[in-house]
Amino acid sequence: MSTNPLHYQSGFGNEFATEAIPGTLPIAQNSPQRAAHGLYAEQISGTAFTAPRCANRRSWMYRIRPAVVHQPFAVQPEGRFHNRFGEAPATPNQLRWSPQAMPTQPVDLIEGLTTLAGNAYIGINVYTANRSMQGRYFFNSDAEMLIVPQEGRLRLATELGVLEVEPQEIAVIPRGIRFRAELPDGRARGYLCENFGALLRLPDLGPIGSNGLANPRDFLTPCAAYEDIEGDFELVTKFQGRLWRARIGHSPLDVVGWHGNYAPYKYDLRRFNTIGSISYDHPDPSIFLVLHSPTDTAGASGLDFVIFPPRWLVAQNTFRPPWFHRNIASEFMGLITGMYDAKVDGFIPGGASLHNSMSGHGPDAATFAKASHADLSKPDVLTDTMAFMFESRAMLCPTTQALDAVNLQRDYTACWAGLRKEFCAPAAQ
Ligand SMILES: [Fe+2]
Repeated sequence: MSTNPLHYQSGFGNEFATEAIPGTLPIAQNSPQRAAHGLYAEQISGTAFTAPRCANRRSWMYRIRPAVVHQPFAVQPEGRFHNRFGEAPATPNQLRWSPQAMPTQPVDLIEGLTTLAGNAYIGINVYTANRSMQGRYFFNSDAEMLIVPQEGRLRLATELGVLEVEPQEIAVIPRGIRFRAELPDGRARGYLCENFGALLRLPDLGPIGSNGLANPRDFLTPCAAYEDIEGDFELVTKFQGRLWRARIGHSPLDVVGWHGNYAPYKYDLRRFNTIGSISYDHPDPSIFLVLHSPTDTAGASGLDFVIFPPRWLVAQNTFRPPWFHRNIASEFMGLITGMYDAKVDGFIPGGASLHNSMSGHGPDAATFAKASHADLSKPDVLTDTMAFMFESRAMLCPTTQALDAVNLQRDYTACWAGLRKEFCAPAAQ
């Protein structure tokens, strides 16, 4: 792609302006009678036209051809990437999966997606891939996509510029934005959460104040970069849970300049400013919130994206790992690297677990035994770890392919079987 393809602009939801060729962007208006350099002007709206200004997202693109120029779409046979969340009863059982095996045949990012669970707010998928998208472009008509690489880098060439992400970074591609995914390392594995609801945003900080958690300046949006190539290509979209495919005679990544606040971005999870207790107990995991998709009920998100990064544990007289709990929200967890501090083994990088609303969970028996007798006179430091959670206010319904998968750990709940009765009533006086 043209010109400075890996330069980024810093900030979250800012009004960006970027051009790969100087003089592309019009002055003082969006849609002049004739756009510069023979380009077409086109707006993409990611929120309702009349959304409040603080939530309104749209961008203006100046492109070689409008997005409408392609052959008609044809629906494809149903595959492993879908929205069929009613196939099986949502289960109160705790579920855990080992990492999905790498494909043995050539598979790109979109072909390599497997849907594990979902609800009206989100769809949760894992991917394994071993080839770059070639002559194929994709956009999601259903959802904004939060991509969490676990192994292998992704080079995401989008209409609005190029994002390169590696494990422990995330990428967000807005609904409708066209892109091609390349695999610089030849193979990749990770998680992809579709957000059907309100666009992801940074949480309010309340008493924390004006800094902390994920800081806005660490979010990076690409500068404009474009392709001017023609050929026999295909354009694929996910539309109401089905994939549709159209022939297209040129690269749709042909935006020479753009301005606006509806754009892809990336964020390095290692930059998260972790906040915790410095006296006793530790706070609810909401303290680890990176991004969320709010609903019309305050505090109840369609999606909360939470991470558990390296950090110090200093709380005194306290059981330091995550406590046993049950939650009104449903929790899907993944592990990017290292070990999670509530599970000694079985929860491995690339794996996943699902604890639906009100399903009990917490540290396994080995972790409980160790933490109950830990020396609290000095701090613990957790290093080389990065776990995350997709949390949702509604039940997460596993798909049949997730329940039938060979990598479903059918003995998962045995990790709590060693939690013996320790109760010993004091003798009556
Ligand atoms: Fe939990």
